[in-house]
Amino acid sequence: MSNPLISSAPWRQLSALAEAQATVLLRQRFASDKKRFDNFSLRAEGMLLDYSKQRVDAAVMGALRGLYAAADVPGWMARMRAGEPINNSENRSVLHIALRQQGDTPVMSEGSDVMPDVRKVLAQMRDFCDAVHSGKWRGGSGETITDVVNIGIGGSDLGPKMATQALAAYAHPGIRVHYVSNLDAAHLAGMFNTLDPTRTLFVIASKTFTTLETMRNAQSARAWIVAARGLGEAAVPKHFVALSTNLKEVAKFGIAPENTFAFWDWVGGRYSLWSAIGLPIALAVGYANFERMLQGAHAMDQHFFSAPVEQNLPATMALLGIWNVNFLGAPTLAILPYSQSLEHLSRYLQQLEMESNGKQAGRDGKVVGTETCPIVWGEPGTNGQHAFYQLIHQGGRLIPCDFIAFKQADFDLPGHQVPLLANVLAQSQALMLGKTLQEARDELAASGADAATVERLAPLKVFPGNQPSTTLLMQRLDPYTLGQLIALYEHKVFVQGIIWNVNSFDQWGVELGKALAVRLIPLLEAGSTASTDALDASTAGLIAALRK
Ligand code: F6P
Repeated sequence: MSNPLISSAPWRQLSALAEAQATVLLRQRFASDKKRFDNFSLRAEGMLLDYSKQRVDAAVMGALRGLYAAADVPGWMARMRAGEPINNSENRSVLHIALRQQGDTPVMSEGSDVMPDVRKVLAQMRDFCDAVHSGKWRGGSGETITDVVNIGIGGSDLGPKMATQALAAYAHPGIRVHYVSNLDAAHLAGMFNTLDPTRTLFVIASKTFTTLETMRNAQSARAWIVAARGLGEAAVPKHFVALSTNLKEVAKFGIAPENTFAFWDWVGGRYSLWSAIGLPIALAVGYANFERMLQGAHAMDQHFFSAPVEQNLPATMALLGIWNVNFLGAPTLAILPYSQSLEHLSRYLQQLEMESNGKQAGRDGKVVGTETCPIVWGEPGTNGQHAFYQLIHQGGRLIPCDFIAFKQADFDLPGHQVPLLANVLAQSQALMLGKTLQEARDELAASGADAATVERLAPLKVFPGNQPSTTLLMQRLDPYTLGQLIALYEHKVFVQGIIWNVNSFDQWGVELGKALAVRLIPLLEAGSTASTDALDASTAGLIAALRK
């Protein structure tokens, strides 16, 4: 087994605590500790993290913090900050923190300060946003730009798309930003129908500039621009910019260096929205708001690197996740923002968490020997309440939930925010308390039901409760707090990766399918009769069906 922590004293202590506390209900924990909220909540950076509805007590938190120390999380933080190649399988530093660094402090990677290059690209992004927003940047036929289409996938799509939607209240007037990711033509072709090519700017976002989906969509977009009346080949430089680390491939595509926004191999795809990959966010909400987002993330970095573990928001969230996954056996984590603007948050966090920590091979290549990343999913409340909450309440499975709520609305319509907040509180309360058979009986009897009805319906109205949740309460969703929120989850993922002993910054698990697809394409081309004998019977059978 590669994770030495499994045999450490805190790990053994946590296993024993989980067993000893298996039958202690959350409602009992609240009944016996009137100060439970004060004892198990944190206030920092304008955020309130209430974890009193998690199945923990002081002993559990103490042992979890022991695990944090045993894993040497502070040492790993220092290695990350020093630019050491902690992405060991790819021999790269991990420095997304540099992208939001404020002030003059240098950030080193392989012996050189990365900050001058970071600042240069940020200045290029700012100038470009100004040019597009002011109407100075014009399309090939002299029209101003009204629509920006970001073509990218994974980290080159999910973060910017999530942030653009999250900051819809800050949208720059006159510019609409769209996102196309899917290889399925329905995504791009559907978009074409809504756009005027003379006023459309394509942003080709790809760290590698070789990703099949993005390159295919980029080629189709290029053909669409070239074929448009009044545009043609000469218009390409005015309708395409690129965001990439692979400047050679960008040049081959025909995008000029001055229209290329660079970033570097020490920026992981799913950590890249702070880099040039954030350009569509800046176009959507204005560069100043993008900068506020960087500042919020930097504030969270400072907190993460300096706050003691007891008061550290990302560390606490990480440790609660470890407890739920490794000691209570939860296979999943529901992300439930009570904010329609955070519609894409769970999908973004799916990549951040699952691509980072969904691994069984440890840093040393040996099987880690424990569960790692939970299955992350979710939907904004209150929509989720009318879809899948039934199962969370009564499905009999352990489903830890992260509730995220804002005191003030980002879009203010009278009569919405108070019931929205009442719902988020009611859901975490119901999940914690549940309802006993006796309570269900009493309730029915009090409503005037006859004895037979009480006996028939009461069992259906039992809620086991004891479902753990954390509530993260913030003042308002704005560029700064969004930056804080994303950085909070990034650092949570970092801490968990250290404790699980996996490299959170590679993604070998997505390679196999990609490679097989490339081999299958020629077999599926029209008229292909190439032999499928070497394939498994299912794949060969499906190809035969498609060829008919
Ligand atoms: O899904 C695999 C992956 O490599 C992600 O890590 C990355 O965010 C995505 O593909 C897109 O890659 P690129 O930005 O190189 O096109």
